[in-house]
Amino acid sequence: MNINENYQNLEESYLFSTVAKKVNEFIQKNPDKKVIRLGIGDVTLPLCKAVVDALHKAVDEMGIQATFRGYGPEQGYDFLREAVQRYYLKRNVQLELDEIFISDGAKSDLGNILDIFSKDNTVLVPDPVYPVYVDTNVMAGRKVIFADANGENEFLPLPDESVKADIIYICSPNNPTGAVYNKEQLKKWVDYALKNRAVILFDAAYECFVSDDSLPRSIYEIEGAKECAIEFCSLSKTAGFTGTRCGYTIVPKALGKLNKFWLRRQTTKFNGVPYIIQRGAEAVFSEKGQAEIKENIGYYKENAKVISDTLEQCNIWHVGGKHSPYIWLKCPNNMTSWDFFDYLLENIQVVGTPGSGFGKNGEGYFRLTSFGSKENTIEAMQRFKKLFS
Ligand code: MLT
Repeated sequence: MNINENYQNLEESYLFSTVAKKVNEFIQKNPDKKVIRLGIGDVTLPLCKAVVDALHKAVDEMGIQATFRGYGPEQGYDFLREAVQRYYLKRNVQLELDEIFISDGAKSDLGNILDIFSKDNTVLVPDPVYPVYVDTNVMAGRKVIFADANGENEFLPLPDESVKADIIYICSPNNPTGAVYNKEQLKKWVDYALKNRAVILFDAAYECFVSDDSLPRSIYEIEGAKECAIEFCSLSKTAGFTGTRCGYTIVPKALGKLNKFWLRRQTTKFNGVPYIIQRGAEAVFSEKGQAEIKENIGYYKENAKVISDTLEQCNIWHVGGKHSPYIWLKCPNNMTSWDFFDYLLENIQVVGTPGSGFGKNGEGYFRLTSFGSKENTIEAMQRFKKLFS
C-alpha cells in the first residue's frame, strides 16, 4: 500500500492542537497559576432555554415507540431545512429545500466538500485565514495560492484579474481578522468567479455577529452568487453548538451537477445529524430562540468591547470585534506571534492564538476571542493593562 504522502506537507499539528498542548504543558509546570483562555473560539455560555427545552422533548420522543426515530434523511429533516429556508427568506434569499444540507458543522463540510472537486483545481485562499481551508487542500494534494490580506487592504483582499483560480475561499466576517466584506466588494468576487467559471466557498460561520444591516450576512444577497457560490454556516458560534454539533451548507441548484454530487456524497458517506440535535437546532430559529441567542451574542460583543478598549488604552494596534467575536492585534515591540504567545502565557497567563498560525501574513499579529466569560475577559484585560501600561 501507498500512504497519502501529502500529509507530510502539513504542519506537524493542527494550530489549535498545538496551542492546547503548549497550554497544558504550562499548567502541568505551574498548577497554581490561573490561566485564562482567549485562544480557540469556543463559546462559554450554555445553550439557550428554547434549545434545551426542544432537546428534552426530543429525548422523550426517542424513548417512546410511537415517536422513536432511526436513520433520518442524510441531508437533514424537513422541519429543520424549512426553518433554515425561512431564516434566509427574512433577508430576501429564496432557497429550495433541496439546496439546504444539514451537517455536523461548517468545519466538516468545508473539508468534505472537496470530494466533489477534481484534484487539479487551483485553490485561492486568503492569507491569513482559518487554517482548515489550506490543510484540507494540502491533504488532497491540490495547488494552493494565496490572496494577501494585510493592513493596506484592511484584511479584505479583492480579486486580481491576472490570477487564475478555480476554487476561492472567502470567510466574512473573517476568522481571524474580524474584517467584513461589503456588498460592492463581494460583488467583485462574484463577478470574478462567474467570469472565470470558478466556485466560491463562502464561510458564513460568524454571520450572526454582523451588526450593520447594510453589510451582507449571506453571499446570496449578491446578485449572481447562486451561480457561483456554496455557503457554509454553523450554529456553533451563533447558538453555542460547538459541542452539540450542527450546521448547514447551501449548494444551489444553479451550480448544476454540484448540488446532485453533494447529495450523492452525503448519502454515501454521512448518516445525518441526530434527530435530537436537529430538534434543538430548529428551536434556534424560533422567535424565542432568536431572541435568546441575540442576547448571548450581545454578551460576547460586550466582551469584545472590553478587549478593544483595553488595547486602545495600552496603545496596541487592533481591528475586529465589531462584526465578529475576534480581535486582531499587532504584537507589541515587534514580537513574533509565537514569542508574544509565550510572553503572555509566562507573564500574565492569558492564552490567545498566534497570528502566524493563520498564514504568513499573520506573522507579528495575534488573535483574542470574546467567547470567554465576562469575568475572565475583564480579569485578562486587567492583567494586560498591568503588563503594557
Ligand atoms: C477558531 O478558534 O478559529 C475556531 O473555533 C475554530 C473552529 O471553528 O473550528
